[in-house]
Amino acid sequence: TGRYVVIGNPIAHSKSPEIHARFAAQTCQDMAYERVLAPLDGFEQTVRSLIGQGVKGANVTVPFKLEAYALATSHTERAQAAGAVNTLTFSEGAIVGDNTDGIGLVNDIVRNAGTEISGKKVLLLGAGGATRGVLLPLLQQRPAALVIANRTVSKADDLARQFASQGNVRSCSFEALQESFDIVINATSASLNADLPPVAPVVFGKDTFAYDMMYGAEPTIFMRFAAQHGAAVRDGLGMLVEQAAEAFFGWRGVRPETAPVYAELRAAL
Ligand code: ATR
Repeated sequence: TGRYVVIGNPIAHSKSPEIHARFAAQTCQDMAYERVLAPLDGFEQTVRSLIGQGVKGANVTVPFKLEAYALATSHTERAQAAGAVNTLTFSEGAIVGDNTDGIGLVNDIVRNAGTEISGKKVLLLGAGGATRGVLLPLLQQRPAALVIANRTVSKADDLARQFASQGNVRSCSFEALQESFDIVINATSASLNADLPPVAPVVFGKDTFAYDMMYGAEPTIFMRFAAQHGAAVRDGLGMLVEQAAEAFFGWRGVRPETAPVYAELRAAL
């Protein structure tokens, strides 16, 4: 049996145990997966104790993704680019840090929603951890252009500069956005406060695909705004399931089917 955990604070709301239990059942993998609440000042201690107990891997969620990055003894390229880690693998004293958020987003958009990113004009709203976490996998799809817009423009500038060698990426303010995009992704945390990033309706054309990394039982305020202006919309539930699938694949070497798990989670929201 392999033991795995998800570590966060708070953690009670995490859907990861349900998702991984379904993946394990589906693929006949003998594994256990539990929630672990780490004290805010006790992430490292918690991880070391789990390693001592023989735990083989961990997903890491808010607010520990940066600490997980710091704790890892080696990083995948996408974790390095993200500067944050959501998946740890423990083996023979090593702590390997990965970040599956970006590939989760890409797989949900390309495979599940059937929207190519390659060759498209993409707008990414926000320049915090969520944005940095997905930039490399998005750019690896070779969009024609990727624009990062943020309230604090300097943060968007920094990210654009940092990822310049990976593709056609630039930054701007929300006010400067005066054209439509093929894909608009909301990576701000505005939805948490039922707030809308101040983006002009002109960014949405009739063929625009708008994606909110947040999800809920009801469409987010960003999705409602985008739909009002003609965009097709999708929330971030699929990204959640896809990032988990990628972590599961990294640990077990088996790819679970995400569609039935997505459908069950959606029905239970
Ligand atoms: P996360 O890890 O979720 O990205 P973060 O690093 O705190 O969290 O970043 C939050 C992002 O949401 C930032 O881009 C923030 O904009 P600022 O950099 O200008 O602070 C953005 N954000 C949060 N609330 C917002 C709002 N009401 N309108 C627009 N942007 C908002």
